[in-house]
Amino acid sequence: IKLPDIANYNNNKLITGSGKLIDKEKKQVGEVPITIYWFYVKACGGIIATLLLILCFIWIAVSWVLETYGLGLWMDSLQSGNSYTRIKSLAVYIIFSISVLLSAFISSLLEAILSLRAAQKIHDNMTRKVVLAPCSWFDTTPLGRIINRFSQDISTVDKEIMNNLSEFLNCALGTIQIISVIGWTIPLLLIPLFPIMLFTSWITYQYLQLSRDLKRLESISKSPVFVLFSETVQGLPIIRAFKQQERFYYTCAERVDNMNRCHLYLWLCNRWLNFRMQNLGALVAGCVGLGVVFSAGNIDNTTAGLALIYSLSFTENLTFLARTHANVQMNLNSIERIQEYTAVKSEKYHTKESNDNKSDTDDEIPSTIVPTTSVVPSNWPSLGNIQFVDINVKYPSSTNYILNKVNFNVPNGKKVGIVGRTGAGKSTLISSLFRTVEPESGAIMIDGVNILNIPLHSLRSRVAIVPQEPILFQGSIRSNLDPFSTSVDEDLWNVLKSVHLSEYVASMPGGTGGEYGPLDDKLIAEKGSNLSVGQRQLLCMARALLRKAPILVLDECTANVDHETDSLIQDTVRNELTNITVLCIAHRLHTIAFYDLVLVMDKGSVAEYDSPLKLMQDDKSIFYSMCMNSGDFDNLYNIAKAAS
Ligand SMILES: Nc1ncnc2c1ncn2[C@@H]1O[C@H](COP(=O)(O)OP(=O)(O)OP(=O)(O)O)[C@@H](O)[C@H]1O
Ligand SMILES: [Mg+2]
Repeated sequence: IKLPDIANYNNNKLITGSGKLIDKEKKQVGEVPITIYWFYVKACGGIIATLLLILCFIWIAVSWVLETYGLGLWMDSLQSGNSYTRIKSLAVYIIFSISVLLSAFISSLLEAILSLRAAQKIHDNMTRKVVLAPCSWFDTTPLGRIINRFSQDISTVDKEIMNNLSEFLNCALGTIQIISVIGWTIPLLLIPLFPIMLFTSWITYQYLQLSRDLKRLESISKSPVFVLFSETVQGLPIIRAFKQQERFYYTCAERVDNMNRCHLYLWLCNRWLNFRMQNLGALVAGCVGLGVVFSAGNIDNTTAGLALIYSLSFTENLTFLARTHANVQMNLNSIERIQEYTAVKSEKYHTKESNDNKSDTDDEIPSTIVPTTSVVPSNWPSLGNIQFVDINVKYPSSTNYILNKVNFNVPNGKKVGIVGRTGAGKSTLISSLFRTVEPESGAIMIDGVNILNIPLHSLRSRVAIVPQEPILFQGSIRSNLDPFSTSVDEDLWNVLKSVHLSEYVASMPGGTGGEYGPLDDKLIAEKGSNLSVGQRQLLCMARALLRKAPILVLDECTANVDHETDSLIQDTVRNELTNITVLCIAHRLHTIAFYDLVLVMDKGSVAEYDSPLKLMQDDKSIFYSMCMNSGDFDNLYNIAKAAS
């Protein structure tokens, strides 16, 4: 069956030239490797728990045969035996019936416990690995794909895999049971059964090859649907503005068709198998019937009945065996896909050295973040001195260095404005300070500690940032400002005042008591959509101020705020953050004209680094021309002069 390249349906247009933006979604091929079974066995609780479950299944299979045999004995004794043999055979029948019940109960219980444990462990492992994945991984993996694994694949692990495995085991044992019963009652029948079994194996093999691959195609054909769905919802206003609803509708329909095509073929495959198995079953039942007729007089009624009953269930059993085997292989595909995500390399939460020495298995994922005091003193950084030494940075998808031998030193408590053209590398500079992108070489020293060697959590919990894109969560003002509830309401109101947002927050619906009242009922919608972009930035700024970190980084944090509020906030920076080192990226030069130092970035390097006044006095400097181009040179010069 020729199917389109479903895996890259969404990405063909994105993969151009030598630079690769989105990684191709992998589709496994061939047999499910033994490591996948081992992965699941380990998640279930190990080899002993699994063996115990298999023993329970064997117990069920043996009990079934003995129960049927006991029934036959009892029937026989009703016709010919005395009362003693009748009671004896009834007792045997009852004992084996109880054994069937007991074994079924215990195995079901064990099955439930193991499957729950496995599902939980596998989900937790994948979640932890995805949460700890570096930002570059999210750049190359579309959200829809991640959602697909967390919904479709996890649901398969939750509901299907243990069921499939136990059904397969039951069917396999059932087949052995039937062949043993037939072989025991009429041994000669094993001769015709042998080629039939060989033929059955060949059919099963054919079915397995195709259905397994179809299932894998079906799994990856869902990702493009998820990806399109999330993109469409996010870009709805744009799609409507350009009247492209129809195009998106048809693209979606096409992708859904692709997804369903795999599903349809899967069902056709099942019909193919069913037809052949029914014929083979009839052949087996016919052979056993003939065998019984020809051995009349040599075998008793009970044994003949037993052979006939089991041969009739042979077809059903064989069909189920093939189908459950295929189901196991198909659904283990979800484990393959999940295992791929549990192998994603985590961000370096440990120190660089210790992390590099570790192999990347799921066992050593830190379940809690490494205690910060283990590597750096608890009062670090007390001063706020920052030093970049020969920093080189490259994104995984870029070919050139985005930061090229960056060197500069920020003395304690100084306010540094970072300027430069769009794409000069300002945000990348900040990203490397937080190690959301790991520098390839060089060192970043904060108060004498090279931050490239300390646990990430220590670093990120001690430096505050207001990013270029404000991020707010659905919840209350309080949960957004102080997610770990470490501050009292009064502190929250104080920072809201500092960013000139207290009046607005007091007027928001919910809560009582006006200013200084509780902030739990003042609600924020998803992504802060009930606030203006400027207000979102101010709220992020308040969140950063609340941390009282000795280093504060502002990336275009007032870009969407009016001039007046911007200058009020800059007053706060100047007057209230006297001992705090501030790095502020700004396109609006008024914002940073009064700062102690200005760092001009140009094509990934530090082009100029001096006080704003000195740079403005040098008519050859880039900063000078930037100020001239702003059309407000005199005003900027006066601000810089007054501040110096
Ligand atoms: N995640 C990423 N993957 C690959 N390249 C990136 C990534 N982020 C940024 N870049 C590239 O790095 C360069 C610097 O980007 P950066 O965001 O640091 O610029 P910037 O100076 O902050 O610009 P702006 O003033 O517009 O915010 C750009 O050429 C950009 O294409
Ligand atoms: Mg930027």
